[in-house]
Amino acid sequence: MLFRLLSLVLLLVAGPALAAPVRVASPDNVLSVEVTTDGDGRASYAVARFGKPVIAPSKLGFLLVDAPKLDRNMAVAELGRRSVDETWQQPWGEWREIRNRFNELRVGVTETGGLKRHFDVVFRVYDDGVGFRYEFPQQPQLTTVKVGEELTEFVLAQPGEAWWNTAFEWDREEYLYNRTPIEQVGLAQTPMTVRYADGLHLAIHEAALVDYSGMNLARVEGRRFKAALTQSVGDAKATRTTPFTTPWRTLQIADSAGGLYQSHLILNLNEPNKLGDVSWFKPGKFVGIWWDMHLDNKTWNSGPKHGATTAEAMRYIDFAAAHHIQGVLVEGWNKGWDGEWFGHGSDFSFTEAYPDFDIEKVTGYARSKGVRLVGHNETGANAARYESQMEAAFALYEKLGIEQVKTGYVSDAAQAQVIGADGKPHLAWHESQDMVRHYQRVIEAAARHHIAIDTHEPVKDTGLRRTYPNWVAREGSRGQEYNAWGSPGNPPEHETNLLFTRMLEGPMDFTPGVFGMKTRSPDGVPTTWAKQLALYVVLYSPIQMAADRIENYEANPKPFKFIEDVPTDWSDTRVVNGEVGDYATVVRKDRRSDDWYLGSITDEFGRVLTVRLGFLDPGRRYRAEIYRDGPAADWKTAPSDMVIEQREVSSADTLTLRLAAGGGQAIRFTPIPGGKPQREADHRH
Ligand code: NOJ
Ligand code: CA
Repeated sequence: MLFRLLSLVLLLVAGPALAAPVRVASPDNVLSVEVTTDGDGRASYAVARFGKPVIAPSKLGFLLVDAPKLDRNMAVAELGRRSVDETWQQPWGEWREIRNRFNELRVGVTETGGLKRHFDVVFRVYDDGVGFRYEFPQQPQLTTVKVGEELTEFVLAQPGEAWWNTAFEWDREEYLYNRTPIEQVGLAQTPMTVRYADGLHLAIHEAALVDYSGMNLARVEGRRFKAALTQSVGDAKATRTTPFTTPWRTLQIADSAGGLYQSHLILNLNEPNKLGDVSWFKPGKFVGIWWDMHLDNKTWNSGPKHGATTAEAMRYIDFAAAHHIQGVLVEGWNKGWDGEWFGHGSDFSFTEAYPDFDIEKVTGYARSKGVRLVGHNETGANAARYESQMEAAFALYEKLGIEQVKTGYVSDAAQAQVIGADGKPHLAWHESQDMVRHYQRVIEAAARHHIAIDTHEPVKDTGLRRTYPNWVAREGSRGQEYNAWGSPGNPPEHETNLLFTRMLEGPMDFTPGVFGMKTRSPDGVPTTWAKQLALYVVLYSPIQMAADRIENYEANPKPFKFIEDVPTDWSDTRVVNGEVGDYATVVRKDRRSDDWYLGSITDEFGRVLTVRLGFLDPGRRYRAEIYRDGPAADWKTAPSDMVIEQREVSSADTLTLRLAAGGGQAIRFTPIPGGKPQREADHRH
């Protein structure tokens, strides 16, 4: 505080001329950030990598509702610095250990005239990215802050290509990615991923979205983007009382697409775990009374095709118990699906089952078989109704041993029902401040009952799983379900886009593992079977669905074995190759054994990739169980053509992966007990 006052006095004496750029570099001097003001006293920041501009000078500031903007006539002063180098553990995740190493710079931004209102901007500079956020200290001249718009800019310093999703459209986050020159981006959601002409990769997103509205990016002109916050109920985008902080604005910056995925920036910028011991959450797989509904073989609503019957649930439980699958999802078990539930949800009960679903019997049977029921709470985006019932619902589920609940908020954008700050019902965007608060209330209530949540039609993921490790997965993009419906599904390149865009946010409940390729969609499921298996490794989630009807697994036990084997919790993860929208190979190490798994996927083009096995322990031999595209495999003509074979390998080997058009490959590497490399001498130096 004293420092702040001193700086302020200095500023007032010396005026804006004092504003020489304030600079901070990352620990290994890879990235640097400069903060300064222009001739009109507008604060800005710029980012460079090895001295080459990544973000050209970009403005900082706010438009306020019914108050003068915080923009011109500002002075910038350094208020403090600190460095952190620590390592923390994820209770579950892609990596066990996460290193958090950054240099921090805090600058004060103060009006040189008028009310002398002020905020700080805190920059955390990592070698692989930058996060910055606004912090508003308490001040009598600025108590309630009604944000009309953030004036934060991102001026992309170099030409290149962008992968982006349209923002503010009716289908929320569920669009295919556009791939355009940067200058042709429109209104984009985040993360937006960019590759500059010189090969540098950049992703713009946010971290720790709490009590604020979600940020999108509006291209103003050329390569200049501006934050476009989501409208909240009332006249502001977000309303807060000082003191408060905004979410972090994040820039992941790497040489390669894989480098973006391996950055821990988003997790590191979130607060540590607030829930304490969360060992009650057990990562794992689940099957479900689900795909049949999407194929229209069964219905959520009551009637002759009702899917969620006691007998059907018990059949799925038997299957799960016999195949090392931990959970069974049952959708359509509860009352409320018979009317207009989409976007209304006004009939849903989250505690009362349909008469043909005996919830006590089903959960009891599941327990007796060592399987758990996965609950389902579709709200039709009626968040207000859900909030009035969720406490009772979670208490019931806890009693019945339901440890995981999939929630859903199906409605068009801006049609979610909330109770506003005025105590009245309103319609809201899924990424409004009102809904951001709602999703968090659900997570906190569920945590009190030791329930993990998988949110469909969610607010985007900004790394809050670090703080609330029971927020285990979300949808938030086009999942497999699009391949079931009548409209065109996800093209073969979709998953190669997802890994380097949506998956930068965190776990996705994509629901891989479909073998029945004929669906209501004209292209069916546009991948090969080998690619369906590879997706378990490529698209991370601590809970992975085996999405298909169990009949299709019973009929194909050999390929299904990979789904049985593949873990959902990892101690290490590496992207060994990949280009956004083209192909990717990911390897992950099981948390509970010395096994490694590999998943490799391609878009509509067949490819031959070589992968060095240097990630395996040196000096050990491994059995590689390989699930690869067969010689005739092709997503259009022969999706099920697959070769399953075994070979012995060591860390000194290089594998050649042949991926068919729309194809993939999945491999499990298991150490051979006592197995020494055959040509060990050759590998020693
Ligand atoms: C959309 C979800 O993504 C899907 O998984 C679910 O089955 C339906 N809503 C019904 O809740
Ligand atoms: Ca959905």
